[in-house]
Amino acid sequence: MRDLNEHNITDAVLESFAGTHNPRLLTILNSLVRHLHAFVKDVEPTFDEWLYTIHYLTRVGQISDETRQEFILLSDVLGLSMLVDAINHRTPEGATETTVLGPFFVETAPELEQGVDISNGVPGTPLYVDVTVAAASGQPLADAIVDVWQSDSEGFYDVQRADTAGHNLRGRFRTGPQGELRFWSITPTAYPIPNDGPVGELLRASQRHPWRPAHLHFMISAAGYQPLVTHIFVDGDVYLDSDAVFGVKQSLIDAFPEQPAGLGPDDRKMDAPWRRLTYSFGLIPA
Ligand SMILES: [Fe+2]
Repeated sequence: MRDLNEHNITDAVLESFAGTHNPRLLTILNSLVRHLHAFVKDVEPTFDEWLYTIHYLTRVGQISDETRQEFILLSDVLGLSMLVDAINHRTPEGATETTVLGPFFVETAPELEQGVDISNGVPGTPLYVDVTVAAASGQPLADAIVDVWQSDSEGFYDVQRADTAGHNLRGRFRTGPQGELRFWSITPTAYPIPNDGPVGELLRASQRHPWRPAHLHFMISAAGYQPLVTHIFVDGDVYLDSDAVFGVKQSLIDAFPEQPAGLGPDDRKMDAPWRRLTYSFGLIPA
């Protein structure tokens, strides 16, 4: 391993990993080295550009904490998250399509009773969520755990708000005997992904906007089935065809039809028009 140059260094590095016992790790390291070296040969970065990249990735790490995950954002805006998702979820007939987890899921969301209003009074157009969870074959799934989370009407998640002490616009529910889940919220709105950090710099440098079309997040798990991580998007949103993280699928778009003021679905008196989401999720056997 002497006198290495641009023509033989790749083979030397591959050889250095040849003793890796874990076969999967060996596959990953070999591919990583081959593709990284090919990338550098293609781009021919200056030393300053290489150093900029090191500092850029360092800043991506430094701005991340328990509630902000800049590496997930970076993966999202590069389309990597959706590519990994697509490879891992080749959806069979009757199963709901998947999309990105995103950076705002919280493990510790409170378990709530059905029928509650997860908006806790924050302003917005009331939304009644009336969904069912079933197997892809159609059999309803009782006792499925359903995490939901969404932005407020100004485009922020609770974890981005310093003034929100507890959880807001999120919760964990359990489906009823027929796989049903019903609760109140507000209609989600489009929002920009956090763009005051390194990922925002990347978007500005490439003339890309940071917006995501309005959506409600769902994470569903049921015994004996693959977990489902997805969103339901609001039809008509101007960002459906330019989602900053490439996450939109046609089957996940719903009209959220507007309903007139009057008596609500649970006999609640509605002073103003409200909207309704009706959707059936299909899970794939584990
Ligand atoms: Fe989101």
